[in-house]
Parts: sequence; C-alpha cells; structure tokens
Amino acid sequence: MSITPVPRIAIIVVAAGSGTRLGANAPKAFVGIDRHTVLRHALEGVFAAPSAQVIVVAPAGREGDALTEVLAASGDRRDLASVVVGGATRQESVAAGLAAVWPDVEFVLVHDAARALTPPDVFRRVLDALADGVPAVVPTLPVVDTLKQVSGSDVVAAVDRSQLAAAQTPQGFARVVIDSAYAVADREYTDDAALVAAAGRAVAIVPGDTRSFKITTPDDLDRARALVAPSTASHAALEHSVPIPRVGIGTDVHAFAAAGTLWLAGLEWPGEPALSGHSDGDVVAHAIVDAILSAAGQGDIGTHFGTDRPEYSGAHAEAFLARTAAIVGEAGWRIGNVAVQFQATRPRFAGRRAEAEAALSAALGGAPVSVSATTTDGLGFPGRGEGVAAFATALVFPV
Ligand code: CTP
Ligand code: MG
Repeated sequence: MSITPVPRIAIIVVAAGSGTRLGANAPKAFVGIDRHTVLRHALEGVFAAPSAQVIVVAPAGREGDALTEVLAASGDRRDLASVVVGGATRQESVAAGLAAVWPDVEFVLVHDAARALTPPDVFRRVLDALADGVPAVVPTLPVVDTLKQVSGSDVVAAVDRSQLAAAQTPQGFARVVIDSAYAVADREYTDDAALVAAAGRAVAIVPGDTRSFKITTPDDLDRARALVAPSTASHAALEHSVPIPRVGIGTDVHAFAAAGTLWLAGLEWPGEPALSGHSDGDVVAHAIVDAILSAAGQGDIGTHFGTDRPEYSGAHAEAFLARTAAIVGEAGWRIGNVAVQFQATRPRFAGRRAEAEAALSAALGGAPVSVSATTTDGLGFPGRGEGVAAFATALVFPV
C-alpha cells in the first residue's frame, strides 16, 4: 500500500447553499448540469488541479450525497478528501471548512461549488502566485460593460471600469493569513478576499476565466448545460456508446506465372495467364483481406493465412474472404463495405464486374463490394503486362 504524502495545499469547496435564486427542487450543488451535478463538475476541476486536501462543505443532511460525489471524482486521491457540514451563511460555511484543514497545510484555496466549470488552469495560476509569496490572491476578469452609479431611476455618475475587476474563485491564501483574518472577522463580508483585506492584508490578482462564472440563476444553468454538451458527446463517443466506424487499407501485387489459369476478383478466367502466389494469386481478394483486417485492427493477411497454413495453398477468394469475415466478426466488427481497384492490361473486366462483385460480396456474408479496373497507360509493371496490382479500402463498424 502506498502512503500519500500530506499535501501543502487545502481546497475548501463551499457547497452548502440552498440555491434560492436558481429555484430548483434541490440544493444548488446537487442540481444536474448533464448527467453530473454542479458539485461533481466542480470537483472534476478541483481534482485535476495539483494534489491537495479537499474539503467539501455540504448542506446539513446532504453529507452522504456529497461524499458520493467526492468518491466518484477523487480517483486515487480519495484519502485526501472529506465532507463537513456548512452553516447559515457562506462565511460560516468557509469557517467550517477551515476548521477541518490538516495541520501541515500551508496554502488554502476557497472555491464556490457554484463555479462548476472552472478550468484547472485557474487553480494553477492561484497556486503559482501563492508559491511566489503573495499572502492572498483572487482570480478576476476585466469588467466589459460600461458602468454607471445609479440612484433610483437616475444615473448619478459614470464609473471608470478600468479600475474595476470582477472577482471569482478559487481565492487563495497563505494559511496563517486566512486563519487569522477569520479569527477576527466580526461581520459578513462579500467574499474571503474582502474579509482578508479588512484584516489589513494585501490581495493580488491573477487572470480568471469566463468559464468560472457562478451558476446563480436558471439562465446561468442553461449556459453551463450548453457549455458541457459538446464535450459530453465526444466523451460518450470515446466510451463507444456512439459506435465509431473504422476504415482500413490493403494492397497486393502478383506477377503473371508461366502456367495455369487466372483467378482474379473471385472468378476463374479461362484462357488468361495465371498469377503466381502461395494461393491462387488473386490480388483483388488479398487486398480486400488486408483492408478488412486493418480496419478491424486484426493484423494482416500474413497473420492469418501465412505459408505456415497449408490449407490455404491454392485456395480461392471465397475461403480467404469467408475466414476474414469470421475473424473480424469474432473481434466484434461488422463489415460496412469494401471498395477495390486493380491495375492490369488484361483481362477485360467490365463484362464480368457484376458477377465478380456478387461472388466477393457473398463470400463476405453480404457486405457490398465494388470492384473497378484500370490500365496504367502502358506505364509500370501492370502497363508492361508483367503482373497485376490491387488497392482496397474497407469500412467496419462495431456491433
Ligand atoms: N454557500 C455555502 N453556504 C452557505 C451559502 C452559500 O457553502 N450558507 C456556497 C454555495 O453553495 C455556493 C457558494 O457558496 O457554492 C456561492 O454562493 P451562492 O452562489 O450565493 O449560492 P447559494 O447561496 O446556494 O444561492 P442563493 O444565494 O441563490 O440562495
Ligand atoms: Mg447565496
């Protein structure tokens, strides 16, 4: 059993609010964004950050649910995570989290579970600033709207937005700084940085992220749902809940032999010179076998039909293709289609194309096969009539 070193960092995830403005029928942290809750998404970001003690502050009565989410998100860091019960205000909830920080921790981050989509980079920026020695740091975004100071229905004054920034979480603190500030706090502050600033400590800023917005209203929840939708689809595809077809490629070349009858594209061609080879030299069939096996990731023709398999000596396309379909079928793939082209000066193919395609398709258990033929304008070995080359592609899909 490995012993996890005691981390220097603690991340307090406050999730004890009721979500009044969201108006869902569960506390905000337990509302679903997709198949995962607000809290689960927040924890995915937390556990993607550098290793830390993680303290989730949960609503009273929901500690078990919070623990379930922690265990699901923490992976091999589950012994670093715990759940405590929050208080009536955010500040009380943070205080409950602070009371659970382990003795050796030097830096404390406080993060709103409601900022569920905060990227791990923001955690890193905050931690880097703390490592550089600042006592307190807040991720912020510039204010983009023009701001007015108002009174009732009147504008009283313009506000210089260049001097303003919107604060986000995680907010980071040297542990002694936040502990001592909380010890003397005698009223409610809007956030931890304000509480620490009131205790006379300097607070630095690092860049926040637009994805760190706080899910507060139903519109915010819609925005979060829209943001996770594409990644959910691609993740599902990776898990093969959406079947991903695969393509493969195969080629083969054989020279014309001295004696015998040609076998090509699954057909016998009386009067045409034979191709040489361990089997019947049917380059079209062999290219198809390689294309299908490569699509399914099952090796190549040599893997399954090498010279160590005497039963395939002299065998025709039907035997190769039927066995190939069986191999990929056993591996969980079905053949979508096959396309193959061969280069040769002879035989003249067009008149028997349909017959060839039907024979090859039947051998593959019915998958459509298209075969085309071309001369090479007299160029190369096919053009000089020395042999035949074939090129095949195949598509397979999981079953
Ligand atoms: N929070 C908390 N304990 C509280 C109040 C708030 O842990 N007593 C947490 C919330 O769970 C949230 C974060 O502080 O992750 C920011 O608070 P806010 O967005 O205001 O959440 P709620 O208080 O739940 O929402 P509302 O104010 O609409 O009721
Ligand atoms: Mg609130």
